[in-house]
Amino acid sequence: MPLMNSREIFKNAYEGKYAIGAFNVNNMEIIQGIVAAAKKEESAVILQVSAGARKYANPIYLRKLVEAAIEETNLPIVLHLDHGDSFELCKSCIDDGFSSVMIDGSALPFEQNIEMAKRVVDYAHERNVTVEAELGKLAGVEDEVNVSIEDATYTNPDQAVEFVERTGIDSLAIAIGTSHGAYKFTGEPSLDFARLEKISNMLPNFPLVLHGASSVIPKYLEMCNMYGGQIPGAKGVPEEMLNRASKFGVCKINVDTDLRMAMTAAIRKVMIENPKEFDPRKYLGPGRDAIEEIVRHKISQVFGSTGSALKLK
Ligand code: G3H
Ligand code: 13P
Ligand code: ZN
Repeated sequence: MPLMNSREIFKNAYEGKYAIGAFNVNNMEIIQGIVAAAKKEESAVILQVSAGARKYANPIYLRKLVEAAIEETNLPIVLHLDHGDSFELCKSCIDDGFSSVMIDGSALPFEQNIEMAKRVVDYAHERNVTVEAELGKLAGVEDEVNVSIEDATYTNPDQAVEFVERTGIDSLAIAIGTSHGAYKFTGEPSLDFARLEKISNMLPNFPLVLHGASSVIPKYLEMCNMYGGQIPGAKGVPEEMLNRASKFGVCKINVDTDLRMAMTAAIRKVMIENPKEFDPRKYLGPGRDAIEEIVRHKISQVFGSTGSALKLK
């Protein structure tokens, strides 16, 4: 099965009212953990690479690892650029063989966001690559950019319709209260479902995307802290809210923090319990297993994409 763009995958997800997990990848063990889970669940999956991941791992290594994952699993896999901040970066990924890109102009004024997204769409669609863009501003930390809660803005539904029409994008990331990182809520978690429903009704059959959608899984948060970590009071998006969002046009749910936390927790445990151990396989292996466990849980219990690969073959 070749690398796929997101078009057909999202069409099926929209109709079936489930979401596809989009997981951030930075190295071999992370990729292997994710695809092992997707294979067991026979689910399509999106592997996404941030600018930071490209810098860390070198894009060629990541692309080759993803090619290996496809060869090994025969799954429908999308290789996606996460938070591309310029036309040049998107073009470079498209030229490198990515099947999907995100152009993130959410920090720009509306007209400039449209202009940049449209330019990427024109280049990408000629090459059968799908494009995600973002409208509204999420709070939280991505790379070196830190958006405070006061500076975050929820997506305006009327603008969303105009944005989609004028850019020709394939999916739209919206801001309804999720945020990047491990500290998403100070009080009770809440998302603006009325806004999501309105956007979804105004954009029928159009795939929406939720960024900043990690749940901060208590088991791994506690494990991190128990074995010397210091991540007090972290809080994520409750799983039932993500599942509910998948019924209102949300076809892609982004997860990075939960992978980081699961892998770190497993590694911390090995390090503390086995101070004499210095074989990297002895801690990276459990890190990979932890990723597989949570991705499998998300696919089967939260996003509902189990079996989605079967309809795409
Ligand atoms: O949304 C951001 C992702 O969590 C990627 O994080 O830029 O540190 O790789 P990163
Ligand atoms: P989390 O920080 O909630 O995992 O969000 C990841 C994300 O949105 C990547 O684009
Ligand atoms: Zn994001």
